[in-house]
Amino acid sequence: MTVFGTGYLGATHAACMAELGHEVLGVDVDDNKIAALSSGTVPFYEPGLPEVLERNLAAGRLSFSTNYELAAEFANVHFLGVGTPQRHGSYAADMTYVRAVIEQLVPLLRGEHVIFGKSTVPVGTAAELQELADSLAPSGTSVEIAWNPEFLREGYAVKDTITPDRIVLGVRSGESSAEALAREVYAQPLEQDTPFLVTDLQTAELVKVAANAFLATKISFINAVSEICEIAGGDVVALADAIGHDDRIGRKFLGAGLGFGGGCLPKDIRAFMARAGELGADQALTFLREVDAINMRRRDRMVDLAKRAFNGSLLGHRVTVLGCAFKPNSDDVRDSPALSVAGSLSLGGAAVTVYDPQGMENARKVFPTLGYAESASEALSDAELVILATEWQEFRDLDPKAVAELVARTHIIDGRNVLDVASWNAAGWTVEALGRTLTP
Ligand SMILES: NC(=O)c1ccc[n+]([C@@H]2O[C@H](COP(=O)([O-])OP(=O)(O)OC[C@H]3O[C@@H](n4cnc5c(N)ncnc54)[C@H](O)[C@@H]3O)[C@@H](O)[C@H]2O)c1
Repeated sequence: MTVFGTGYLGATHAACMAELGHEVLGVDVDDNKIAALSSGTVPFYEPGLPEVLERNLAAGRLSFSTNYELAAEFANVHFLGVGTPQRHGSYAADMTYVRAVIEQLVPLLRGEHVIFGKSTVPVGTAAELQELADSLAPSGTSVEIAWNPEFLREGYAVKDTITPDRIVLGVRSGESSAEALAREVYAQPLEQDTPFLVTDLQTAELVKVAANAFLATKISFINAVSEICEIAGGDVVALADAIGHDDRIGRKFLGAGLGFGGGCLPKDIRAFMARAGELGADQALTFLREVDAINMRRRDRMVDLAKRAFNGSLLGHRVTVLGCAFKPNSDDVRDSPALSVAGSLSLGGAAVTVYDPQGMENARKVFPTLGYAESASEALSDAELVILATEWQEFRDLDPKAVAELVARTHIIDGRNVLDVASWNAAGWTVEALGRTLTP
């Protein structure tokens, strides 16, 4: 099989499919990425992936190329995992890359082929791509488009790909070989009773965006309650624990704090709204506008708290931001709340120093003007205010007594509600947190 697009999704999918025993060719337009992957280097941080990559390169089951001709001859089963970022100046998804794969690949195909879309796309895309493929396929060649949305989480991508919690496959009505092929591709997880849901194309496309919209809504729900807690004097963490015991609600994704970011949730809820508008159903999803707004307000609130710590002016103050990846166990800084806060503080006049165990290289590219430290202790040295912005284990494990020795002022704002407030207070720290009234 081939996998088009070797980013977070595609490189993981390619390596993990080889791990399941398939022969896989990963294809990308980025020469550097292909060169890195071919030499056994994963060009991003994903725990466990380097080992899977190396093992399968060595076994000869996995290779990478930028050559579409080679890809067209290599396999009859193709996965499409290229990016669908937010279109500039619009909420809609940019489908340029997805269409480009079909436009370049299909004219080169001979015989019978199935393309499984994995990218997150607006509903109706698969049907449009089928029409496009039909118009481009050489005579005698048949190309079926099926949709197989991806649910992997960065940080757990290998596990989520090899043992997914469900497999969703959208197939066209009428003649289709996609389900039988998918059963072969995913034989191993299916043997382990992984739920396998076969739907029409539209439902499969919608499953993915609906799942992400639900998760975003859950996070923004607790962050909206956070805003009330802050004004009324409540504690959102105790509240989340209490409502989370109700198994209809559940505690997961009720972590109040700086909110969601990354390359998926923000752009996916916006693209969902845009598509609803195109379908004449914009009212159905206007609540997602609120979900988005609540999420962005948390970043502003953090900047306000930082300003308040300096009596209203950040000018010249030394602030350390712990974390710049959008979540722990990832180096992904796309739409990262942590980096957004660090950037705003810097633009507000603060001298900002950032440290993140993995996200620094990517952050430097997006925000070269911030200060970057080599370690947490270097970052903390002489800080007047510390902001915990990404909940890496390393930051959860910080020893408040030891850190107190490094900083100029023992003042920390926990943007992720992960610190043990009592032990930080005991070490002399003023602790503030989003959604909690902690400082008398
Ligand atoms: N990252 C995740 O956790 C995740 C999870 C589920 C779904 N998704 C979805 O998967 C898709 C890809 O996301 P990602 O995070 O891997 O993005 P990414 O930006 O890391 O990777 C996209 C890759 O596609 C390549 N590409 C662009 N045009 C190409 C072309 N014509 N031919 C071949 N390759 C091409 C790019 O060079 C890049 O390497 C998106 O739709 C995203 O919403 C991502």
